[in-house]
Amino acid sequence: MIRPIQKILLLMALTATTLTTTAQRKETVLRDGWKFSRGEQFVTMNAIAPSLVGFNDSQWQAVQIPHDWAINGPFDKEIDKQTVAIEQNGEKQATEKTGRSGSLPWIGEGWYRTTFTVDKNCPHAYLNFDGAMSEPIVYVNGKEAGMWNYGYSSFDVDVTGYINKDGSPNTLAVYLRNVEESSRWYPGAGLYRPVTLITTGREYICPQGISIETTRYNWVDATVKVTVLCDHCHGTNEVVRMSVAGQTFDFPLQKEIHGGGCINQAVVTVKDVKGWFPEDPDNEDENHRPTLYDITFSIIDNNGLGKVLDSKTVKYGFRTINYGLGYGRQNPSFSVNGCKYKIKGVCLHHDLGMLGAAVNKAALERQLVLLKSMGCNAIRTAHNMPSQWQMDLCDSLGIMVMAESFDMWKYPKVKNGYARFYDDWWRTDLINLVKANQLHPSIVMWSIGNEIPEQGSKEGNRMSREMQNVMHFWDPTRPVTSGMDRIDNAISTGFAQVLDIPGINYRTHRYQAAYERLRQGFILGSETASTVSSRGVYKFPVERLDGKAYDDGQCSSYDVEACWWSNVPEEDWLLQDDKDWVIGEFVWTGFDYLGEPTPYDEYWPSRSSYFGIFDLAGLPKDRYYLYRSKWNTEETTIHLLPHWTWPGREGQVTPVYCYTNYPTAELFVNGKSQGKITKQKGISSGTGKEGRISDINDPAIDRYRLRWNNVKYEPGEIKVVVYDKEGNEVGRETVKTAGAASQIQLTGDLGAPIKPLKADGEDMTFITVNILDKDGNLVPDASNQINVEVTGSARFKGICNGDATSLEVFTKPTMKAFHGQLVIGIQSNGKVGNTTIKVSAKGLKPATISLHSQ
Ligand code: GAL
Repeated sequence: MIRPIQKILLLMALTATTLTTTAQRKETVLRDGWKFSRGEQFVTMNAIAPSLVGFNDSQWQAVQIPHDWAINGPFDKEIDKQTVAIEQNGEKQATEKTGRSGSLPWIGEGWYRTTFTVDKNCPHAYLNFDGAMSEPIVYVNGKEAGMWNYGYSSFDVDVTGYINKDGSPNTLAVYLRNVEESSRWYPGAGLYRPVTLITTGREYICPQGISIETTRYNWVDATVKVTVLCDHCHGTNEVVRMSVAGQTFDFPLQKEIHGGGCINQAVVTVKDVKGWFPEDPDNEDENHRPTLYDITFSIIDNNGLGKVLDSKTVKYGFRTINYGLGYGRQNPSFSVNGCKYKIKGVCLHHDLGMLGAAVNKAALERQLVLLKSMGCNAIRTAHNMPSQWQMDLCDSLGIMVMAESFDMWKYPKVKNGYARFYDDWWRTDLINLVKANQLHPSIVMWSIGNEIPEQGSKEGNRMSREMQNVMHFWDPTRPVTSGMDRIDNAISTGFAQVLDIPGINYRTHRYQAAYERLRQGFILGSETASTVSSRGVYKFPVERLDGKAYDDGQCSSYDVEACWWSNVPEEDWLLQDDKDWVIGEFVWTGFDYLGEPTPYDEYWPSRSSYFGIFDLAGLPKDRYYLYRSKWNTEETTIHLLPHWTWPGREGQVTPVYCYTNYPTAELFVNGKSQGKITKQKGISSGTGKEGRISDINDPAIDRYRLRWNNVKYEPGEIKVVVYDKEGNEVGRETVKTAGAASQIQLTGDLGAPIKPLKADGEDMTFITVNILDKDGNLVPDASNQINVEVTGSARFKGICNGDATSLEVFTKPTMKAFHGQLVIGIQSNGKVGNTTIKVSAKGLKPATISLHSQ
């Protein structure tokens, strides 16, 4: 019960917060009004001329931040062409590699300029860059105010000493440079994540100065340990007030730091709150979003009758995490608020296909919602620090995160990679990773590195110990992992023993031995599968192949092709289902990404990956349904492959697979039964060497897929009827032979209605274009040139067909369909009203839709 005096205090505090917050702290995302130019031209004049206040940038390109200067292309084989041996792939001899980092013009220098204003005599101002690719130098009013090296780190630049005190506009200029052979994938280029200006009064809560740790959650109350760092506070008359869920907690200054800073700490119990879980079944929202609370922290001046000197509101979800062994090592598990979860995760590189590296909230949300529909509950931000927008979305959608830091330490994987900075910067970069992300309940572990070559040396043992200690010091609440690709070496050097969570990349056949030798008592599949496929492409005969390259630069979608170091999904599932000490996996990868076109590293044109469960456009490959059939335990999955339009294959063996969460199905070809089959039981390993699945006839595959391997193609239709374990029919699916391409169909993702746009100048909607025959069947080999016209309250933003070998650019409104489909990205231009989108192709009936932006 709240006593009257507390009520008054609470009301006073709330009123003060609303009145004075605006007068004190202001956070402004600097999105519009930027100018951009490539930078090489200035080297010969005055290299820093563009930083100067009077510099004439009128001829520069007007851009919105986030911006990726390379995404317009064109693709070029020569960009970042490398003659190297990729050591991680076991190569011994150097060969020419093209497309390794995407073949887009990301190498070189760039400048960005804008102006910003702050209030007259503003006591304190800083800029947050959530990442800048790369080696940014920040100039304010012609003076260097800050710099960074690693393009993925979120960093702050205190600009108080550089701004005009009279309230006149300030010139902000940022210089960036990207060197060749600095990345194993497409890194993007420029200010690809938001830039935010934050101004405060004299006393303020420090940047990234709030940390909250849930130490106990009992399904009613949450006990949290809170730390708030403040600056320029003067002593005992000030308190920090925390307000959450209608409750207020004051905690006095506890420790003064030299120069007027102070640390304020308290342990408080917040009553009657809901916990944060990856999924909240009580929430009616289709994504079952977890509960987040707004928590406001204020510095209150008691001398000034409760005046609010600064106030900041953060979103937080109450949760504890535990990676436990249970009594007598009997119950190894990972749990959130005491509930056990298997990690059903995917690795994601940071690019967003047609948008390149430039982050966009709607595009990030789209990815996560698509993943969630598959039953995925976690992502790994491979192999670098995530964007804040992505983490906000993971918090709100209930996706757990392994937040990673580095792809290399001191030993370089590419000539000019992070190894150049490691010695001087690893500590600072790791600390920034924690500070920028500590409040995100979605983050359930940190990763200090991916496939670090040092795992095989004593030195690596020391380095991992030191790095893990830094993480523990800055965040005692989350465990640390590292993805190890040479687990036997890592065990022999003690590297693996150091880690809180031993993460194994691939090497399913080494899990058991590693588990037995390691002290931790459980194993995480920190990177799994790396199965390869191209949407809509099927190769015959169907074989279990590794590293297979075909003449057309594509991989087969029967989901049985991988690399020598990797595997088909079933190899991971056998372990996860039969060994409770395997706490889950992160599949390589959720979406295709730019660069790393394995198994076509030496084939041109090929410039993006084949590993994705979704293609580069965000269209599902067959594998989506395979993972969905395993991971999504709530909804029915019935999916048939391949397509059934094979002129010329009449009478030839054309295997048919069904991906379903049910055990039994009968297949019919033009009404003739091909047999009723049931998933195999009692199989716990592959029949290949060391229990691997290396043969197409391995029954371990049949534990998870229904396969009719001897079907002969005849045009018409294939139909599957699916049964539950009691023998009841639960659904059917039909695929028909398509006729000639005749019409265009427009839908949202996975056939849903097209999402309307918010008229905020950045929201996006993604439209799937399907080429259909006159009866509405997808034409699986259609490759018509599609043209897009957009008029009204939105603009054309990008286009992508998921073909890894396409050299058409993403930013012109025309592209060939790939296997009957592509995706168009439309962005709000800030205006309220209607948008007309017309999609046409020669010889096809066009499609037009009207979208409303509000
Ligand atoms: C892993 C590596 C990833 C990616 C993948 C491709 O070894 O960690 O970054 O290269 O292989 O299979």
